[in-house]
Amino acid sequence: MKIGVVEKPGVLKRAERDVPSIKQADEVLIKVKRVGICGSDIHIFHGKNPFAIYPRVWGHEFVGEVVETGSAVTKVKQGARVVVEPIMYCGTCYACRQGRGNICEHLQVMGVHRDGGCQEYVVAPEANLHRLPDSLPWDEAVLIEPFTIGAQACYRGNVQKGDVVLVMGAGTIGLTALQMTKLAGATVIVTDVVPEKLAYAKSRGADYLINAKAENMIEKVREITGGMGSNVTIDAVCNKKSFEDSIEVTSAAGRVVELSFNEIPSEIAPVNLIKKELTICGSRLQTKRFPVVIDYLTKGQISLAGFVTKTYPIEQMIDAFEYVDANSASVRKVVITME
Ligand SMILES: NC(=O)c1ccc[n+]([C@@H]2O[C@H](COP(=O)([O-])OP(=O)(O)OC[C@H]3O[C@@H](n4cnc5c(N)ncnc54)[C@H](O)[C@@H]3O)[C@@H](O)[C@H]2O)c1
Ligand SMILES: [Zn+2]
Ligand SMILES: [Zn+2]
Repeated sequence: MKIGVVEKPGVLKRAERDVPSIKQADEVLIKVKRVGICGSDIHIFHGKNPFAIYPRVWGHEFVGEVVETGSAVTKVKQGARVVVEPIMYCGTCYACRQGRGNICEHLQVMGVHRDGGCQEYVVAPEANLHRLPDSLPWDEAVLIEPFTIGAQACYRGNVQKGDVVLVMGAGTIGLTALQMTKLAGATVIVTDVVPEKLAYAKSRGADYLINAKAENMIEKVREITGGMGSNVTIDAVCNKKSFEDSIEVTSAAGRVVELSFNEIPSEIAPVNLIKKELTICGSRLQTKRFPVVIDYLTKGQISLAGFVTKTYPIEQMIDAFEYVDANSASVRKVVITME
């Protein structure tokens, strides 16, 4: 079967490998149909993901059809259409016991710590599968995983109906946070520095737009909110300053949701947290967000028009990575078809 593998930083290859076989009774063999390319796949390719182990079959955003099931599998049958939740966790550490396997001490992410979805066939435990309705096309289903990231940010920020949410950055993740917080009933302000990205955010429901290059972002948010600031701020820009700004711009009793994997420290005066009793939380991957997103998609509540920028067959996988690299300012999602 065909696979896409990052052999070592900077070396991406198409290769052949034997079809994997089921080894545990709870495992399922899946024929992969679509794989999305994520910013973190590009980081793995460039050797900038500190968690990646090489060589690595990349891909954590993938969907497919069940072709074989282990003897103990009960949830899915041959022919079932599924999305694979790409995280594996121990189930016994403190985080797992809190129901938060996404931050397990022994977390393994498919496509990062172990092989992922860019292969014609993949084996995964039944527990990691979510069934897809027949009405959901593969080209939409492949976007479920990225939307779970926005759903998790919305959940971590405890977004309430009527809240004013500031989504900093209208990249792939910011756009998913925008749609999830709109569905939670918030008024959403979106920032970016690229006018085209702001225009797309407007078309996906943003109530207010701020070009952070042309305007003073914090002043503008205060102006929009009558001086209050945003009740929830989701940092999907993820640099030193965006975290600092998120503390500054958020209202009293507000929540700051940080998505950054950045290792550069930000400078934050404690008084700015205390006087507003801010809650600052990290948001990593997702917990229990797959069913939420599948439900929204099935009901047509997430609007996906134009979200996929380009699609390539597996034979052109290297062109796809080059396209994403060369067009990072305009790409939302590039998808590989495995058929
Ligand atoms: N915590 C998690 O689970 C998780 C998951 C996925 C991605 N991430 C992180 O989220 C971040 C965003 O990912 P992405 O795929 O959306 O990246 P992206 O590059 O598509 O989006 C970033 C956006 O920010 C905009 N931007 C840059 N500077 C800005 C500024 N000063 N003000 C406003 N906008 C600005 C860019 O134009 C771009 O649209 C990355 O740092 C990524 O590592 C975290
Ligand atoms: Zn991703
Ligand atoms: Zn654990």
